[in-house]
Amino acid sequence: MAHKKLFIPGPVEVDQGVLNKMSTPMIGHRTAEWSDLQRRVSRKLQTLMYTGNPIILSASSGTGLLEMAIRCTTVKRAIVFSVGAFGNRWHAIAEGNGVPADKYEEQWGRGITPDVVERYLSTGKYDVATVTHNETSTGVMNNVEELAEVFRKFPEVVWCVDTVSSLGGVKIPVDELGIDICVTSSQKALGLPPGLSLASVSQKAKERATGVKNRGYYFDMLQLLKYVEERNFQYPSTPSISHTYALDFALERILNQEGLEARFERHRQIAEYVRSWAKQYFALFPEQKYASDTVTCISNTRAISVKDLNNKLAERGFAISNGYGELKEKTFRIAHMAEMQKADLEELLGHIEDILGLGA
Ligand SMILES: Cc1ncc(COP(=O)(O)O)c(C=O)c1O
Repeated sequence: MAHKKLFIPGPVEVDQGVLNKMSTPMIGHRTAEWSDLQRRVSRKLQTLMYTGNPIILSASSGTGLLEMAIRCTTVKRAIVFSVGAFGNRWHAIAEGNGVPADKYEEQWGRGITPDVVERYLSTGKYDVATVTHNETSTGVMNNVEELAEVFRKFPEVVWCVDTVSSLGGVKIPVDELGIDICVTSSQKALGLPPGLSLASVSQKAKERATGVKNRGYYFDMLQLLKYVEERNFQYPSTPSISHTYALDFALERILNQEGLEARFERHRQIAEYVRSWAKQYFALFPEQKYASDTVTCISNTRAISVKDLNNKLAERGFAISNGYGELKEKTFRIAHMAEMQKADLEELLGHIEDILGLGA
């Protein structure tokens, strides 16, 4: 079947250079060669995340490390601040692991406000809080700078942030914000195939984990950290060597070819372009001030069949996403992350206009 160019919010289009790196011949994972690779990738990720914290790589998708974060750091009780499907997933993960947790769910399309965070944390009931930075189901990007000011007042709380669909496209200065665990996946704004996730972990989160008895096995954060810190950048089980080679290559380009500021600016500009198109022909689903810079969720104000539109786009070699869950057909989503350029979006939107007869 012919390849469709992916404008879905993950997996994203993967550049041929990165795909080629995935087929690098294997090396043993208990070798100095592997340690060098993992160390190099970790250093680059620390630059990308603006952090001095150690980096955990996991041969799982991001959900695995979301599980690690909430399970390994909750002693008292966690509060999950949800703005959509992936926030709700974090709460379901807690429940599935027997981790005591409550959920505050914001109306979909809106972001979490500082007063809500303050209200919950000042009860003193919670020692962990989770926030989804970029909620892929609704196209909402929370204002973590604003929330960080509240978290600073509650140093006993371990702050975990899901940046699965934003890290690599949007600046997340982890240490400045005071994020204790920052999780992301390979298949979104980093522009890799799915199957690898990574997280930065603060000293505070590490200390907390020592008081958690049942941390599981595969996602035991202390075990993962031990292999990084005491065993010279190794992984407790077998790592995804192919992904790590590809990530090393992708990060080199992100940091040294494009440059971080330019990359974040490109994402901001193409997001702005897609948003103005969406407002011209439809409407934005999220409140404007929370609109994401990596994925735009568009309200289907023209009552088009999103399914038919996507079928017609497929015939032309493109794919976008229908709305998520209950938002199916009520919204549709266009992703603009990783290596996407404005010209790619112009081409896609031109086809959508043509198929729907917009502006004719
Ligand atoms: C915001 C967000 N969080 C978590 C996940 C789950 O990540 P993964 O599919 O890598 O497990 C996704 C996946 O789309 C996501 O968009």
